[in-house]
Amino acid sequence: MIRLKGISKHYGPVAAVRKVSLGIPRGSIYGIIGKSGAGKSTLLRVMSLLESPDGGEVYYGDERVDGLDGKELLFRRRKMGMIFQNFNLFASRNVLGNISYPLEIAGFPKKAIYERVDELLEMVGITDKKKALLRELSGGQKQRVAIARALAAGPEVLFCDEATSALDPQTTRSILALIRELQSRLKITVVLITHQMQVIRSICQYVAVLHEGELAEEGKLDEVFDSPRSQAARELIYE
Ligand SMILES: Nc1ncnc2c1ncn2[C@@H]1O[C@H](COP(=O)(O)OP(=O)(O)O)[C@@H](O)[C@H]1O
Ligand SMILES: [Mg+2]
Repeated sequence: MIRLKGISKHYGPVAAVRKVSLGIPRGSIYGIIGKSGAGKSTLLRVMSLLESPDGGEVYYGDERVDGLDGKELLFRRRKMGMIFQNFNLFASRNVLGNISYPLEIAGFPKKAIYERVDELLEMVGITDKKKALLRELSGGQKQRVAIARALAAGPEVLFCDEATSALDPQTTRSILALIRELQSRLKITVVLITHQMQVIRSICQYVAVLHEGELAEEGKLDEVFDSPRSQAARELIYE
């Protein structure tokens, strides 16, 4: 369970996130939706310990984790994987080199890395692309590489920041199906932020609606979709 308690984050005069509290059940696919600028990415960076909040608390289980540093922070961060809209892959490395990167950093021996990469390529369905250069891949294939890299070290949580926003509808469906399959196979928690309602609708069990930095609404997907209470949720759902 990941729990946020009264999280706030400012950038100069801009209140990107304001007093957001929510709980993400372990093993769930949890969506956070909101318009552009609503504070989704900021909240995700706080949740994934890339940034410290200026107010509030972050818990993983019973442990408070905002404010961790040094080895403790590294240890926590190793249990998280992240994927992004623009993939954030290394253009200078091939598929193998990208996926093996976090394993090299973690100091795994070469043989273990090769075995693990093969397993990951299989998991994301691109075994034939092992030696391919990034420029030879489609967007969907690049996102599969990014997913493999994110999962390489066996994280407990996968954070997805607009992971399908640069993909066409068909590729989006295939990537979402893959995320769902991996979530149930690996029993990880998935936190997915997006401005696309269709993405939330197709794989999330829970949803939180962010509006101008504040939590407008949170709950089980069906409940929020069937009877949205906030104006922000109604706008997103009925638009
Ligand atoms: N590093 C930053 N420096 C300054 N302002 C930022 C930074 N990151 C986000 N913001 C501002 O915070 C607000 C929320 O941004 P963001 O979290 O990226 O929203 P979203 O992901 O929902 O589009 C926006 O007004 C944005 O301009
Ligand atoms: Mg964003």
